[in-house]
Amino acid sequence: MRAFASIVFVFAFAAPLALLVAQEPTPAVAPVDFQKQIAPMLLARCIDCHGPKEQKGDLRLDAKAHLFPQGDEAEWSVVPGKPDDSDLLRRLGLPADDDDVMPAKGEPLTKEQQELFRRWIAEGAVWPAEADEWLQKEIAAAVIPKITFDLPPVDDAQKAAIAKAVQALQKIGAVVQPVAADTEALDVNLSLLRDKVTDAEFALLVPLAPRLVWLNVSRTAVGDAIAKDLGELRELRRLHAANTKLGDAAFTVAAKLPHLEYVNAYGSAMGDGGLAALAAGPKVQRVYAWQSKVTAEGGKAALAAQPRLQLDLGDYVEGRLAAAQKEIDERAARNKPVNEMCPVATDKKVDPAHSVEHDGRRIGFCCAKCKAAFQKDPAKYAANLPPK
Ligand code: HEC
Repeated sequence: MRAFASIVFVFAFAAPLALLVAQEPTPAVAPVDFQKQIAPMLLARCIDCHGPKEQKGDLRLDAKAHLFPQGDEAEWSVVPGKPDDSDLLRRLGLPADDDDVMPAKGEPLTKEQQELFRRWIAEGAVWPAEADEWLQKEIAAAVIPKITFDLPPVDDAQKAAIAKAVQALQKIGAVVQPVAADTEALDVNLSLLRDKVTDAEFALLVPLAPRLVWLNVSRTAVGDAIAKDLGELRELRRLHAANTKLGDAAFTVAAKLPHLEYVNAYGSAMGDGGLAALAAGPKVQRVYAWQSKVTAEGGKAALAAQPRLQLDLGDYVEGRLAAAQKEIDERAARNKPVNEMCPVATDKKVDPAHSVEHDGRRIGFCCAKCKAAFQKDPAKYAANLPPK
């Protein structure tokens, strides 16, 4: 009896409910959310080749303005509202072995992912400004290198020594931090302390050796006497030693560090000998040596000896500075007055700050007043000018 009653109950309500559903024009599916559903796919599968780093096929997909350039509507690979006219969607659906299929690397997008793209385009390809910001942030975060270091194991005694050394360094104001969130590898920056860091402070680094991978001693007062301690820092990958007194003795020791890849010796006392040693180092790839004592010949020799070396001697900077100086000199020469004495006051020297172009020559005056007088009636003073 009870069961019968509830069946009646169900029937009584089912009919009007069915009517209600039938009246709904389309199934209630939420529109595609670009930032949550499309942008992450672009980020994961497209931006490597169509983003800030590379623009394959001249296409960028990391900001709205790139996908929809104003004035170039005919070229858009996404036509809002028209999935079937959108080259981007066509490419997603091509067979995996088609030359045009996108992504050009890895698995094709799944049918569901392609369907999301189709619906997004059909719904007008909405790309909110916040999505640009989100993409930019995500791309920036992804650029931070994912670094894994093969660091040697440390025992409890070493751990304690490391902790103590970190404290001692922090006490003098050094910045000591892990290179990334998920690593014990340490980055120490002493450069902010300038000449408060001498050879004695450098010695505080030695217990950190098993974890110290990046070190910045730029602008500090360390000298070649640190060479022995530097040689202990066997896990070092990067050494910033710009604007220091460090010379060949220190860099020759650094060169032997088994993992050292990057050396900034800008404005240091490194010479050709130190550079040659670095070039012969087991892992050294990149050396900045602008305004050091390295000569052009020394640079050439290092590059010849080590093809993988990327050497920056700043020659292009010197070149640019020289060109700029030449332009300044030429302009100054052009602007130099032809007369030494003021043609109005006659007994006063010219001040180049007060000059005027007259009759194809630059004429100088001693003051603004004389210049004004001359400009009013040049003929009156013509006799006081040097002959043409
Ligand atoms: C591994 C690199 C790579 C990846 C990843 C990649 N592409 Fe491409 N893409 C290319 C290259 C190369 C071209 C140019 C050659 C061509 O037209 O096929 C191109 C061209 C295109 C074009 C045509 C551009 C034009 O106007 O000529 C579109 C659209 C495109 N890609 C979309 C995508 C999308 C969407 C993704 C992600 C789902 C993606 N690509 C991922 C390499 C890549």
